[in-house]
Amino acid sequence: MSKTIIISNRLPLQISIKKGKLNVTPSVGGLATGLKSFHRDGDSVWIGWSGLTAEELPENLINEVTQKAKDEACIAINFTEKEIEGFYYGFSNRSIWPLFHYFMEFTEWESWHWETYKRVNQKYADAILKNYKDGDKIWIHDYQLLLVPNMVREQAPNATIGFFNHIPFPSYEVFRTMPWREEILKGLLGADLIGFHTYDYERHFLSSVSRILRHQVNFNEVSLPERMVKVDSFPMGIDYNKFEQAAQDHFENSLENQSDLQRRLDHHRKGAPGAKLILSIDRLDYTKGIAHRIRAFEYFLEKYPQYIEKIRLVMLAVPSRSEVPQYQLLKKEIDALVGRINGKFATVSWTPIWYFYRSMPFNNLIDLYASCDIALLTPIRDGMNLVAKEYIASRKDQTGVLILSEMTGAAQEMNEALLINPNNFEQIADAINQAIEMPEEEQIKRNKTLQKRLKRYDVEKWANDFMKSLTKTQETRQSNK
Ligand code: UDP
Ligand code: G6P
Repeated sequence: MSKTIIISNRLPLQISIKKGKLNVTPSVGGLATGLKSFHRDGDSVWIGWSGLTAEELPENLINEVTQKAKDEACIAINFTEKEIEGFYYGFSNRSIWPLFHYFMEFTEWESWHWETYKRVNQKYADAILKNYKDGDKIWIHDYQLLLVPNMVREQAPNATIGFFNHIPFPSYEVFRTMPWREEILKGLLGADLIGFHTYDYERHFLSSVSRILRHQVNFNEVSLPERMVKVDSFPMGIDYNKFEQAAQDHFENSLENQSDLQRRLDHHRKGAPGAKLILSIDRLDYTKGIAHRIRAFEYFLEKYPQYIEKIRLVMLAVPSRSEVPQYQLLKKEIDALVGRINGKFATVSWTPIWYFYRSMPFNNLIDLYASCDIALLTPIRDGMNLVAKEYIASRKDQTGVLILSEMTGAAQEMNEALLINPNNFEQIADAINQAIEMPEEEQIKRNKTLQKRLKRYDVEKWANDFMKSLTKTQETRQSNK
């Protein structure tokens, strides 16, 4: 029976070693949380990095790692420390990630990073080929694996290969600064179908293909001498039912079953008449505009001092890529900002910002989504931003206001949110004020429309649309033979 081979750098589970024993945790980030349900419900095997390096994995635990992955229909690959340094902390996260998010000043071009990236991509391609049987579909994910499609194509010319990019694709003027731009594009064009979250990313990619490689592009198809490559946009959705159900369970939860976090949140809301909570959740990443958000919140408290002691920003920042210097600097900047603002505005009974630097279990995420009156998400660039969708899906009574950066992919589908430019503090402060004052009927009206849309275009629909389109490319190829 044919299957789908999913491949991404991170598996949905992350394995680490604690006191000589394996510790398994769910992965954070939109790719893993989104794809998980497609993987769970379908006939697929998922290949990716275990989270461990070969050096830290003792011989006697190797089989156990393989088994832990196998229990979840995954195949785990281990890399050496040097490979992780050059491929993951290097080219993936110091070159492609900043460039594709328009942080050109953060990009580094180290040739040994690039060489390692190629080598690790080849390892991934080899792992696919080892598990590939005629008739299988191969679905490759994200910017860590841009060369894999063509590496697989070279060994399996007739394979059905799809690629989905979870981050933005930058405009040609930005992309052209990449020293290995031809190789990257050729790598991607090994796929039959290349998917992006939005039409803009798709357009940028096609323009780079036609200007750099000089291939003919007709609408959304690239003509290669031997075959066609289809390029399309598929905005990723969430597992809507999961969030809707979790919000329902949260609502029905008896008092004694409530989490400590929930009690603290309730305590704040009951603490003063008109007290409100503003939520933000992201990985601690410079693309997420966290520092901008805190400064804009400070400006809001100055401009609207009537909300002092009433409004609290609950900020969850999940540790991410902490060996990359830019992330370490950002951590310091955020710590200092939170400290300064809390010091400046705090009263004996109130601190304006509650800051958590950790990841939270799913139930606590639901506590936050369900309890916070406003979600304030201000990325400077973000491929999609699933947190925005999860917040809306978790609003059981349909109240709540989403303030969302127009620089996220999600903003294109969420017009009913208050859309802001993350660089415009005046606009953000006014949007917070508008959100606080927004009548409940208006909140419900906006969220009703949003919920309906998110429910219809959920992650299952996203994956099915992509797979249907991929199957079609294969049928077209066969009928053209
Ligand atoms: N998330 C999580 N644990 C946390 C905080 C967040 O699993 O403690 C999840 C969140 O539910 C969401 C994902 O991480 O599904 C973040 O995805 P998003 O698209 O917003 O951003 P990304 O991290 O992919 O850039
Ligand atoms: C984003 C990327 C994913 C990545 C995730 C977490 O969602 O698109 O590919 O897995 O961030 O980042 P990490 O570096 O921890 O895998």
